[in-house]
Amino acid sequence: MGFKFHYNQVLCLLFLFLYADFEVNPTVICNPKESLALLQFNNTNAFNLTVSTYPKEVCTPQTLSWVEGTDCCFWKGVTCDNVTGNVIGLDLSSSCLSGTILDNNTLFQLSHLQWHNLDYNFFEVSPMSSVFGLLRDLTHLNLSTSGFSGLVPSEISHLSKLVSLDLSDNLQSRSLRFEPQNFALLVQNLTKLSVFCLTGVDMSLVSPVLLSNLSSSISTLSLDDTTMHGKTPANVFRLPNLHILRLSYNSDLTGFFPQSNWSSPLRLLDLSYTSFKGQIPHSIGNLKFLEGIFLSNCSFTGPIPASFGNLTQLTALCLDENALTGQVPSSISKLEQLTHIQLSWNSLAGQIPNFGNLSKLTFLSLSRNNFSGPLPYHVSRLPYLTDIDLSHNFLSGKVPPELFSLPSLESLVLSDNTFSAPIDQFEPSNSLSDVDLSNNKISGLIPSSMFKLEKLTSLDLSSNNFSGTLQLDILLQPTYLQQISLSYNSLLSLSSNNRVKNTSSILKSFEMSSCNISEFPSNLRTLENLLYLDLSNNNICGRILKSE
Ligand SMILES: *[C@@H]1O[C@H](CO)[C@@H](O)[C@H](O)[C@H]1NC(C)=O
Ligand SMILES: *[C@@H]1O[C@H](CO)[C@@H](O)[C@H](O)[C@H]1NC(C)=O
Ligand SMILES: *[C@@H]1O[C@H](CO)[C@@H](O)[C@H](O)[C@H]1NC(C)=O
Ligand SMILES: *[C@@H]1O[C@H](CO)[C@@H](O)[C@H](O)[C@H]1NC(C)=O
Ligand SMILES: *[C@@H]1O[C@H](CO)[C@@H](O)[C@H](O)[C@H]1NC(C)=O
Ligand SMILES: *[C@@H]1O[C@H](CO)[C@@H](O)[C@H](O)[C@H]1NC(C)=O
Ligand SMILES: *[C@@H]1O[C@H](CO)[C@@H](O)[C@H](O)[C@H]1NC(C)=O
Ligand SMILES: *[C@@H]1O[C@H](CO)[C@@H](O)[C@H](O)[C@H]1NC(C)=O
Ligand SMILES: *[C@@H]1O[C@H](CO)[C@@H](O)[C@H](O)[C@H]1NC(C)=O
Ligand SMILES: *[C@@H]1O[C@H](CO)[C@@H](O)[C@H](O)[C@H]1NC(C)=O
Ligand SMILES: *[C@@H]1O[C@H](CO)[C@@H](O)[C@H](O)[C@H]1NC(C)=O
Ligand SMILES: *[C@@H]1O[C@H](CO)[C@@H](O)[C@H](O)[C@H]1NC(C)=O
Repeated sequence: MGFKFHYNQVLCLLFLFLYADFEVNPTVICNPKESLALLQFNNTNAFNLTVSTYPKEVCTPQTLSWVEGTDCCFWKGVTCDNVTGNVIGLDLSSSCLSGTILDNNTLFQLSHLQWHNLDYNFFEVSPMSSVFGLLRDLTHLNLSTSGFSGLVPSEISHLSKLVSLDLSDNLQSRSLRFEPQNFALLVQNLTKLSVFCLTGVDMSLVSPVLLSNLSSSISTLSLDDTTMHGKTPANVFRLPNLHILRLSYNSDLTGFFPQSNWSSPLRLLDLSYTSFKGQIPHSIGNLKFLEGIFLSNCSFTGPIPASFGNLTQLTALCLDENALTGQVPSSISKLEQLTHIQLSWNSLAGQIPNFGNLSKLTFLSLSRNNFSGPLPYHVSRLPYLTDIDLSHNFLSGKVPPELFSLPSLESLVLSDNTFSAPIDQFEPSNSLSDVDLSNNKISGLIPSSMFKLEKLTSLDLSSNNFSGTLQLDILLQPTYLQQISLSYNSLLSLSSNNRVKNTSSILKSFEMSSCNISEFPSNLRTLENLLYLDLSNNNICGRILKSE
């Protein structure tokens, strides 16, 4: 079938204008020409019985209610101007419509249209018609997730009233494409444009230099995954009304942050997976409305500026996979709205700051850095934390036992550090499912409370200095346990109590290589779901008995 669309792929065509409460004046009569255009549109893009088997949540055929000879201003989905009777709005979202939108579609005769919503229908792939340029009154054009393909016509730049233009997320990746000239025309002529979304549109020929000519009214600019490349002018960060800037997933798009005069209303900045580089300037602290900063996998260097401490609205701080150095400034501990801290894969060093006041924090990842010193016990006070990943650092001392009691924690990964002290008994949480303490130097007994973590599915304590003798049946107490690794704990041994059979266990993988086991644990045989067993390099000798 190659590039042909299948009918069961949801093609959506959507023009959207969010209008204030609008009531139709009952004396207004629909313009007869437009009434006819609507009927003809209904006949060419008919409700398709073959797709009517789609669940009701996907579509309900509104056009079934249209009756010839009645005032179209009262038809479902149609809105008329209360003085002229012109059709200014059409909302046929999720109407099970099908067909293609060609140049001669009677839709284009609705010349007064300001908003038009046809999303979640079953249109077939159509070239983006230049006739769109005739709908001069359009203020909001939303063709996101549509079946349109090919060049974005230059006639779009005739729509000088456009406030919002959304061409993003076509089903077929990058089926819409911008020519440099057409983009330049659009940028020059659409002076009222505020929302401009082109996610997934092919802009590989468009130079980012053109972005410096965008209208100063731009508040949302989304150019994710457009294959745009080259150097982005710093002026983009200075658009005076910019609230949302997304340039992510353009791996060859580069540029530097401005040193001054940032766009002060900026709330969301997403440059993830681009090649932006240089230092993050101190002036970033002036963006006092910033709620989310996503710079994952760029090429930023140097320290995290202390001025971040002034971004009190920040909820997400994602600077992972860069080459940041130095200490994490303690001012971060003041950002009480933070829910996500993601700083992994950098070269950050020094101690982990005291995050004890970040009571909304859910996600903390500082893995693969050079953090050292103890893990501040304050972290174990944060009630909404679900994920902690501090692996691959140089953290030492004691793993605070309170971590295992955190009421929301699901994943605790502290592997590849230098923790050494024994772990105390704790009050087991009933949310923790994944515990990885492998590759440390933790000594002493494994606290029995570890096996009272009800939701535990995966436990990795391998490559430590744990000692003592574990009872297999106690080990298998957590009901959800699927894998357990205790390998490379040379002082750890296992005793198997033949009287206890755990037939309800769903354990799939059991590893206890290179420990101090001297006897084959015979009730392992009762584990019906076990797929992987490693008891290599122990001191087991004698025969393994057949099951009774
Ligand atoms: C209805 O959908 C089927 C399946 O894709 C298609 O073959 C047929 O042409 C459609 N009918 C109309 C009127 O669009
Ligand atoms: C149409 O009606 C709305 C709400 O009743 C009103 O705000 C608006 O001014 C009217 N438009 C015209 C052109 O009279
Ligand atoms: C609109 O199309 C539907 C489905 O084809 C049809 O049932 C309905 O009668 C049409 N309405 C008018 C007014 O033609
Ligand atoms: C629109 O054009 C297509 C192909 O050019 C043609 O088959 C169709 O009949 C035309 N529709 C109308 C309503 O004129
Ligand atoms: C366009 O429509 C999609 C789907 O309904 C929606 O998610 C998106 O926010 C709309 N775009 C604009 C700019 O309103
Ligand atoms: C720019 O917009 C004006 C209307 O404001 C229109 O007349 C003109 O043709 C447009 N220019 C281009 C190049 O699209
Ligand atoms: C930007 O606009 C200015 C004047 O408005 C014009 O001189 C310049 O050529 C434009 N730049 C680009 C790259 O189109
Ligand atoms: C920053 O803004 C100030 C005051 O508006 C202005 O004087 C200065 O030239 C601007 N700097 C840059 C680099 O745009
Ligand atoms: C925060 O802002 C104030 C004034 O706006 C400034 O004096 C202070 O240095 C800033 N703090 C940091 C940590 O940048
Ligand atoms: C950044 O992303 C690239 C491509 O996806 C990947 O090859 C690279 O490993 C990532 N960088 C880091 C530090 O993980
Ligand atoms: C981080 O630790 C690694 C491994 O010990 C070392 O090679 C590297 O130089 C350290 N980087 C910094 C910035 O301290
Ligand atoms: C946490 O908040 C309290 C009360 O506002 C304050 O006294 C304390 O210094 C804060 N701790 C940190 C580490 O910011």
